[in-house]
Amino acid sequence: MASLEEHSLMSAGQPAAHVFPIGSRINEAGRLEIGGCDLVEIAETFGTPAYVYAEDDIRARARAYLDAFRARIERFEVVYASKAFPCTAAFRLLAGEGLSCDVASGGELHLALGAGFAPERIYLHGNNKSDAELEQARDAGVGHVVLDSFDEIDRLERIAPGQRVLLRVTPGISPSTHAFISTGQVDSKFGFGMDDVPRAIERIRELELVGLHAHLGSQIFDLEPYERLAELLAGIGRYPLLNLGGGLGIAYTYDDRPPSIEDYVDALLESAPDDVTILCEPGRSIVGNAGVTIYRVGTVKRIPDVRTYVAVDGGMSDNLRPMLYGARYEAELADRLGGDTLCTIAGKHCESGDILARDVRLDDPRPGDVLVMPATGAYGHAMASNYNAIPRPPVIFCRDGDAREVVRRETFEDLTLRDV
Ligand code: LLP
Repeated sequence: MASLEEHSLMSAGQPAAHVFPIGSRINEAGRLEIGGCDLVEIAETFGTPAYVYAEDDIRARARAYLDAFRARIERFEVVYASKAFPCTAAFRLLAGEGLSCDVASGGELHLALGAGFAPERIYLHGNNKSDAELEQARDAGVGHVVLDSFDEIDRLERIAPGQRVLLRVTPGISPSTHAFISTGQVDSKFGFGMDDVPRAIERIRELELVGLHAHLGSQIFDLEPYERLAELLAGIGRYPLLNLGGGLGIAYTYDDRPPSIEDYVDALLESAPDDVTILCEPGRSIVGNAGVTIYRVGTVKRIPDVRTYVAVDGGMSDNLRPMLYGARYEAELADRLGGDTLCTIAGKHCESGDILARDVRLDDPRPGDVLVMPATGAYGHAMASNYNAIPRPPVIFCRDGDAREVVRRETFEDLTLRDV
């Protein structure tokens, strides 16, 4: 398996490789390979659109987290934030790698348990957990519930007295990222503000408070706020567990240069006391660059002196991030990487805002081409919808030249399955 350092996709003259899964390469036929599988062949076998993952990439990043902690401290836990890619095959793989798991709903809890995550390795999050979710956690023997509000303290004491809990703190630190995915600031629906924390701790009678939690936000490149976080939490009181959340950013575009996992872990540990267990909750930085989405080009519309629209057979139903956060992505043709035709990649949905990427350069795109968008492994499948009654894409795992479908494509029949 290629290490993160050996991560070089392409020979000279090709676009930067760090947005593609580890081990990706251009094969003898000039086509892009992910996990040893030719993407043009994958498109023929499984159809498009499809989410295609390099299994080894997910493993390598999980191991990079574990190794980074292991090299620095003895007591730690790497908790997979499963909202990034709540897929049974991913849960299985990451449970097998020895990670713990963060779930943010009864549904994610159901999936994690079903995939074989030990309940005691699961952390349940949510700013408005229902009675049913808390009962589900209690009955399953979930290791830790992360308390998010005064109301929840009362609710959980009634439902699951004795439950081990962490208290979610909103530390008033806000790194720079999109406002929708920033959570550390005082004005947040999540957690207890610093002023409320003492009162919350006092209020807890029937629960076992074993730690504190904070999550600053997502897609963060600036490590400085993390350096102070452990110290800030430890200052609240001495508890055995400090969970410092997730949020390390990844490269979506060729110009993005996120910090390494090692540097991120360094920052997390910068002010951490020696006598506690440190937890972190990465989601995107484990699965984001492991996955690409493949589409088939259907139409190419050239508006002279204005723009060239390249329309693909998916769009905002399989990747909402460009529309929701203004997220930028790259795109390539699977068998002709590079090129200099300036293009806008449009989806097939019935609205003008259904644009997946702007100003990407392709090699003379034509109907029938397979188009690849890298870095779609996190929050793509997770936030997919059936808008315009489009069946959701399958998930394909590739490894050593073998491709296996781990989630099948939805069918039209699936679309009426819930009709009563
Ligand atoms: N821990 C907690 C408590 C979280 O709320 C999150 C993300 C994570 C960990 C993992 O963050 P990550 O390492 O993946 O950045 N849909 C948005 C992202 C929302 C993230 C919500 N919470 C997106 O597509 O960018």
